[in-house]
Amino acid sequence: MKTEALKKLLESMTLAEKIGQLVQWNYAALAMTDAEVTGPETLQLSADAMKYFGSVLNFSSADEMIRLQKQYLAGQEHPVPLLFMMDVIHGYRTAFPIPLAQAGSFDPDLVKECARAASAEAAAGGVHLTFTPMVDHVRDPRWGRVMESCGEDPYLSGIMGAAQVEGFRGKDLTDKGTLAVCVKHYAGYGAPEGGRDYNQAELSEHVLREWYLPAYKACLDAGADMIMPSFNSLNGLPSVANPWLMNQVLRDEWRFEGAVISDYNALDELITQGVAENRQHAAVQAMNCGCDIDMVSGCYASDLEKAVREGLISEDQINTAAMRVLKVKNDLGLFEDPFRGASADPETVNRLAREHRPLAEKAAIASAVLLKNTGVLPFDKAAKRIAVIGPFADSREIVGAWCCNCDTRETVTVAEGIRTLLPDAEVTVVTGCSARIGDTDGSMIGEAAHAAENADCVILCVGEEMECSGEGRSRASISLPGMQAELVRRVAGANPNTAVVLFGGRPLDLTPVEKIAPAMLEMWMPGTEGGTAAAKLLFGDAEPCGKLAMSFPKSAGQLPLFYARSNTGRPKQAPEDEYQPYCSNYMDCGNLPLYSFGHGLTYTEFRYDELRSEKTELRAGEDLNVTVRLTNTGKRTGTETVQLYINDKFSSVVTPVQKLAAFGRITLAPGESSEISLTVSHERMKLWNFAGQSVIEPGAFEISAGYADHLLLTQTFTVS
Ligand code: GLC
Repeated sequence: MKTEALKKLLESMTLAEKIGQLVQWNYAALAMTDAEVTGPETLQLSADAMKYFGSVLNFSSADEMIRLQKQYLAGQEHPVPLLFMMDVIHGYRTAFPIPLAQAGSFDPDLVKECARAASAEAAAGGVHLTFTPMVDHVRDPRWGRVMESCGEDPYLSGIMGAAQVEGFRGKDLTDKGTLAVCVKHYAGYGAPEGGRDYNQAELSEHVLREWYLPAYKACLDAGADMIMPSFNSLNGLPSVANPWLMNQVLRDEWRFEGAVISDYNALDELITQGVAENRQHAAVQAMNCGCDIDMVSGCYASDLEKAVREGLISEDQINTAAMRVLKVKNDLGLFEDPFRGASADPETVNRLAREHRPLAEKAAIASAVLLKNTGVLPFDKAAKRIAVIGPFADSREIVGAWCCNCDTRETVTVAEGIRTLLPDAEVTVVTGCSARIGDTDGSMIGEAAHAAENADCVILCVGEEMECSGEGRSRASISLPGMQAELVRRVAGANPNTAVVLFGGRPLDLTPVEKIAPAMLEMWMPGTEGGTAAAKLLFGDAEPCGKLAMSFPKSAGQLPLFYARSNTGRPKQAPEDEYQPYCSNYMDCGNLPLYSFGHGLTYTEFRYDELRSEKTELRAGEDLNVTVRLTNTGKRTGTETVQLYINDKFSSVVTPVQKLAAFGRITLAPGESSEISLTVSHERMKLWNFAGQSVIEPGAFEISAGYADHLLLTQTFTVS
C-alpha cells in the first residue's frame, strides 16, 4: 500500500482502533490454547479487550496464524491484518547453534545463511517478525542469557547482529520467505548486578557509548524494523520508561523511525519497579518514551484511551505510534496478503527443515571451539572400541534455550553421530551423572570408568543442561553441575585417550578439570546436527576452527571479566599464577581468564611470520590496511581466524590495552604460507571522550595480530 493510502487508512480509524494497533496479546490468551508462553501469564482477556489488537506472539503454526487472521479480519470495519511475532533466535524448526556459539565462528556469511534458513522456515510457519538479533553486550556468564548474545565484543556483536538482520530480512520484506526483525534488549540488560537476570544495571555514559550501545546501532543501521527496550532499570529508570535511552539517544541522536515494542509485560512491571503508580501511569510513561507496542501487559488496552481523554497523552502520539506499526505491516505486504503465502500444510516446513540439515551441521562444526588438545585429537578412525560417556553422550537436549519450534526428537545425538560415522566400531554408551544443578548422584561413575578402561578412545560428554541457560537462568556458581568433575577425573584417569566434549549455553568454570582433561572440545548447544558435527570433529572428518566470543574465567570470583580491560595504575607484572602485592591482582587467583576471547585451537599449527601495514602514519579518519603472513607448520589443513587488536597508547580517557579491530579467515594446507589483508576501519580508532564526543585523538597506536592476551606480532602507527 502506498504511504498516502496508509495515511488515509489511519485517518479513517477511530481512537480505539488506533490504540488497538499498539496492543499485543499472547496467542494462548486469545485462543485459549496451551501454546507455550515466554513469560509469566498475564490477565485473562475480556471480550472488548479482544475487539481491537494489532499483533500476536507465542503461537505455534501457520494453521493457527491463518485461522486467527481470518477470524480477526472478518470482524473488523477497517480490516488491518495482525502482525505475528516470535523468538526465532537460532532457528525455527531446524535448531542452529546458539548465537554465542555462532558468533565464535567469526563467519558473518555463515551466520547470515543460518538466519536466512530460519527465516524461510519461520515464514512458512506463519511468522512475520522475529525478536532477533539479541546483541546485548555481556561480561558475566552468571547471567543465563549470554547464550543468546554474540559475546563480549561490541564490534563482533555488531557484525554478527547485522548479518542476522540481513539474513532474516533478505532483499525485500515482501518476499515471502523473509521476516521483519526486532533487535533487543536495549540497553544494558547484559550488565545486571550480580549477574542476576532482570536486576538493575548502573553504567556510565562512557561505558554505554563504548561498549553497550554500538551493537544495537549496527543492527538498526543494517535495517532492523523494530527495537525492544530491556526489562532492567538503567541508571535508575527501566529502559521502556527511560527518556535518555528512548528519546534522546534512539530517536533524536540515532534518528530511528521504526517501531518500539516493550518486553514481555514490562509496562505492568513498571509498577513493581516502583516507578509507576498504576497501569495508566505506566502506559503514559511508556508512550512518552516512544513505546509503540505494549507486549501483553494490557496497560495500553485498558488505560491509553482514558489517558488521551484526560489530556495525559495526545492523539498525535497515538497516531505516530499507530503509523509506525502500520508501516511494519505494510513493509511486509500484509495488506496485500495477510497470510504472506504461509501454508497450513506442515509439510512445507518439514521439507525446508530437511533441506537445512547440512547447514545445521556446517554451523555446528564452525561454531565448535577446541579449547585444549594434548594430541589425543583427532581420534583414529580405526578405533574399534569407543566409549561415549556422560549426560550428553546420547542426549537430544543439545539445541539450547529459545529453540522455538524445533522438535528435539530430530536432534542427532553424539552416540548416533559416531555410529553413523564409524558403523563398524563397537560403541558403548554410559549415560547418567546428570548435568542438572545440585544432582549429587555419582552412582554411574564406577561403570563409566570401567567402560573407559576397556575402550580404544573415550568421548566424555559433560556440561550444563539446556534448562540451565536462557531467560531467568542465572547461576551464582558456573561450575560443572553435579558430580561431573569427579566423572572427568575418574574417566580420564582410567584412559588417557579421552576427549571431554562440553555442552552448555555459557562459559563454565573449567578450572577443576582443565589439568586432567587431555582434550576439551566446546560444542556449546550445537543444535539439530550437533551429534553429527561432534563425531566428524572428534575423528578428523572436520577441522575445528571456532574461537571464543566470550572469555572463560578461572573462577566466578573474577566476574565480570572481559578481555578489553584497561591497565589500571598498577598492572600486574608478575607471572599469572603469582600474587604481586600492591598491584591490581587477586591473592588467590590470576587476572586472566582460563581461556581468552578469540582463543580456539585447530588440528594443525600456524606460525605468524609477519605483520605489516601499508602506512605507519595516518591522518585522522583514514583506515589502516594491514597484511599478515602466516604459515601452516602442521600436518593437516586448517582454517585460522586472524584477529587484529588495536591499542591507543595515549589518550584523554582510559582505553583498553587491546580491542578487536578486524578479523578474517584463511585456510592453509600443510606447509603452505600465505598472506591475509585486513582493513582496520578508522572507526576502531575512536574513543568516547570526557566531553561526550566520539573522536579519534592524534598519537601513537599499536596494531597486533593474535588473540586476546596472546598478541603475537605488533606494529606501531601514528595518527595525526
Ligand atoms: C521474553 C524475553 C524477550 C522475548 C519476549 C517475547 O521475556 O525477554 O527476549 O523476545 O519475552 O517472547
